[in-house]
Amino acid sequence: MTLALDEPTRKKLEETLRYFEEIGVREFFTDRARQGADEAVAVPASIQPVAAPRVGVFAAPELATPAWTPIPQGPSLFDAMDRVENDSLERIRTDIGDCKRCRLCERRTNIVFGDGSAKAELVFVGEGPGHDEDIQGLPFVGRAGKLLNQMIEAMGLQRRDVYICNVVKCRPPENRAPEKDEMAICSPFLLRQLDVIQPKVIVCLGAVALKALLGAEKGITQLRGQWLEYRGTRLMATYHPAYLLRNPNAKGDVWKDLQKVMNVLGLQARREARL
Ligand code: URA
Repeated sequence: MTLALDEPTRKKLEETLRYFEEIGVREFFTDRARQGADEAVAVPASIQPVAAPRVGVFAAPELATPAWTPIPQGPSLFDAMDRVENDSLERIRTDIGDCKRCRLCERRTNIVFGDGSAKAELVFVGEGPGHDEDIQGLPFVGRAGKLLNQMIEAMGLQRRDVYICNVVKCRPPENRAPEKDEMAICSPFLLRQLDVIQPKVIVCLGAVALKALLGAEKGITQLRGQWLEYRGTRLMATYHPAYLLRNPNAKGDVWKDLQKVMNVLGLQARREARL
C-alpha cells in the first residue's frame, strides 16, 4: 500500500489510530481491507467553509452573508476516516450485522439503524434509542419522537421526507448517555450514513450528537442556533426533544433554530405551526 501523506496529516492519522487502539477499536468495517489496497490513502482536507448550497428539491435561497461560525474545536476524531466507495445504507446495515462491538449489545432488543428517505435533504441526529425505539427498532417513536414529528410537520415536511438516526444504535441502559467508547465504536456508522445521504443540512438534537460530529467541547446552550459545519455540510444544533418535554419554555428557541434550517431549504412553515 502506498502512503502519500504529508507530515501533519500522518501525525494526525497516527494520533487518531492510537486513540482507537487505546479504546480497543480496531475495525469499523467488515471488508475495508479489500478496498483500495494499492491506492494512496485519501485523507479528507480539514473542515473548510461550506460551499454554496446544492439546489435540489427545495429551492435553497443564497445566503447573502452566510452566518458561518468557525468550528468550535479542531476536527472530530473521525476526520481522518476515508470514505467507503460505493457505500449504501443497506451495506452499512449489513456491516453492522448482529453487532457485539460494545457492551450496549447486551441489553438491547433491536438495533435501531435509522428511518426515512435515503435522499433526504435534512437529517436529524439524536443520541441513542430509548425504550420504545429499542422495542420497535425505529428511531424517535416514543414521546420525544412524537414531538420531533410535530417539529418536522411544523417545518412543512413529513417524517418520510427526512432521515432520522442516532449516534449509537443500541439503547443505553436506563437511558443513560452513551459513553465515550460506545460513541467511538458506533459513530463511524453514523458518519457513513451521512456520507451516503449527503443531506444539505444536518440537525444535531442535543449535545451528544454535536459532540459525535464536531467533537465540540462547548455545550449545546452555547452552540445551538448558529450555523456550524460538518465535512462541508451545514450543521445546526438545537435542543433534544426530550429536553423540550422537560423544559417546554425552550420550544421557542428550537423553533427559531428550525426556521434558520427552513430558510436554507426554502421551506414554508405550516400556517398553524406550533411546537
Ligand atoms: N432519543 C434519541 O436520542 N433517539 C431516539 O431514537 C429516541 C429518543
